[in-house]
Amino acid sequence: MNEKIVQVLDKTFKVSISSESIQREISRIAKDINKDLADKNPVFLAILNGAFMFASDLFKQLDIPAQISFLKLASYSGISSTGHVKQLIGLNQDIKDRVVVVLEDIVDTGVTLDTIVRQLAGYQPSKVLVATLLHKPEATIRPVRLNYVGFTIPNEFIVGFGLDYDGYGRNLADIYTLVKS
Ligand code: IMP
Ligand code: MG
Repeated sequence: MNEKIVQVLDKTFKVSISSESIQREISRIAKDINKDLADKNPVFLAILNGAFMFASDLFKQLDIPAQISFLKLASYSGISSTGHVKQLIGLNQDIKDRVVVVLEDIVDTGVTLDTIVRQLAGYQPSKVLVATLLHKPEATIRPVRLNYVGFTIPNEFIVGFGLDYDGYGRNLADIYTLVKS
């Protein structure tokens, strides 16, 4: 059998979602967004680093007036006693009264997305929608409403198509699941 196996750093991964399936799902999401948001002039906010590939492939398939910008969640040790603060950086676009579509690679615990959605609300957009390529519902501890989902997957570690293991593996066109040793 030609089962695709890759080695990323010290770990072995096995292909689990082919690039063809990924592209098919992205086309489906693009079609839905083209229909749902045709007259909404949405602004897409892609979350770096992981969502860059999803955002690029999705955005190319939109045929409605739309803008895109890229954000990052920077975590640093704050001066407050609570310690760790995660702040959304890179928002150089006025999103007041705009329909915003957050683009994420994966929603795992939901903590990242929840933080993002709460911070965006402070800029008074008219609506915040979420499109994620992948969702691990079994891992969710902070449920956030997901408007567009590519794949619902089990609670396993994956790499490829923008997702990384210690910074590596983002370049893979397919998605691979960690092989437990
Ligand atoms: P959450 O805050 O737990 O939902 O995690 C979201 C972030 O964790 C994603 O944006 C990814 O960067 C990363 N992440 C979660 N699961 C995986 C995975 O299986 N592989 C690679 N990165 C992951
Ligand atoms: Mg990410």
